[in-house]
Amino acid sequence: MSEDVDPGPTGEAQARPPSWLSRAYRLVNRNPTWRAKLRYGLLPGAFDREHRAVLAGIKRYRENERGQQVNRYLLRRNTHRLEKGLLMRPRRDIFALDYIEATMEVFAQATVRCLADESDTDRLEWQWAHDVIAEYFEVTGSHPLIDRLRKRFEDLDTGRLSGGDSKPYHRELGDQPPVSYDQMVALAKQRRSVRWYRSEPVDRNLVDQAILVAAQAPSACNRQPFLFRIFDDPNQVAALAELPMGTAGFGHNIPMIIAVVGRLRAYFNPRDRHLIYIDGSLAAMSLMFALETLGLSSCSLNWPDIWTREKKITRLLDLDPDERVVLLLSVGTPDPEGLVAYSQKKTLDQIRTYNK
Ligand SMILES: Cc1cc2nc3c(=O)[nH]c(=O)nc-3n(C[C@H](O)[C@H](O)[C@H](O)COP(=O)(O)O)c2cc1C
Repeated sequence: MSEDVDPGPTGEAQARPPSWLSRAYRLVNRNPTWRAKLRYGLLPGAFDREHRAVLAGIKRYRENERGQQVNRYLLRRNTHRLEKGLLMRPRRDIFALDYIEATMEVFAQATVRCLADESDTDRLEWQWAHDVIAEYFEVTGSHPLIDRLRKRFEDLDTGRLSGGDSKPYHRELGDQPPVSYDQMVALAKQRRSVRWYRSEPVDRNLVDQAILVAAQAPSACNRQPFLFRIFDDPNQVAALAELPMGTAGFGHNIPMIIAVVGRLRAYFNPRDRHLIYIDGSLAAMSLMFALETLGLSSCSLNWPDIWTREKKITRLLDLDPDERVVLLLSVGTPDPEGLVAYSQKKTLDQIRTYNK
């Protein structure tokens, strides 16, 4: 059986359908909507894994919302929405009525957790929420709901979370941008997909510095629904390197692999399911540029949705049901002896239009 034929959740291959079913299939096949339903809705197929992961994500989001953990994604999204309300021109006197109560609920939970745990690594996240909510109550007008929650906020013991200033601000814009256009072009042209690396281990400090740049990437509602899972243990790298299809011939010389893993628990609605791929990829691009500035090179490795490979990577990375691999990156110090592809890029006229 070909490995891209999904045998379905039970792992059993599908039997060939009887001829009447084939005739019905041909009939239905004429309508694009029904064709899609039949292919991807009724028969087990390639999208099942995604459906299951999306549902697992929504379930996890709801569980967190019911208070089993602090629902950080709800808090991040709503803090972001409050910031947008605060920076609006003109700013409305009353806003966020439909979500301020839920925001306060989660923030109160975060406060309790932060007070209980001195070493809470999420403290900056809660502090940002604190400062934005404080600003919101500072500037919004009077309304029964807001007044009640304002009082609740004032009564909360926010302890180490108070005293910060993480709220909308004016950027300091100098005369010149910190990186010139010419430097940006030079960096963009220097970055190429590098497949040949020196055998030396990759300096983790440099990789961490690059990840800090990746963390500055935009993401929908600032949720940052991804993790960079970094592997430099030679056995783990070897096991991972053979999984994507595009490493044939050079997988053996990869010293480090970074798996960008998206978390669908960030969403309560399937409409947002693509954001893990968009946000993960935007961050991955920043990461690749940052690596180049630090003397390291990388190559994106396509993660194909093939059930045999999905099973293996789920086991290797111990993925939760709502976690999906966005892509893998090989990383290393470039081997100056190794060639890179010329990779002619499209011209302006090929890739841009205005007003059409
Ligand atoms: C999503 C994605 C998946 C890719 N997968 C692979 C891969 O599996 N193997 C590989 O050798 N290169 C892979 N690449 C690298 C592309 O081949 C490369 O980006 C492209 O040819 C342009 O070359 P450049 O990156 O040097 O500009 C991938 C790139 C992207 C963006």
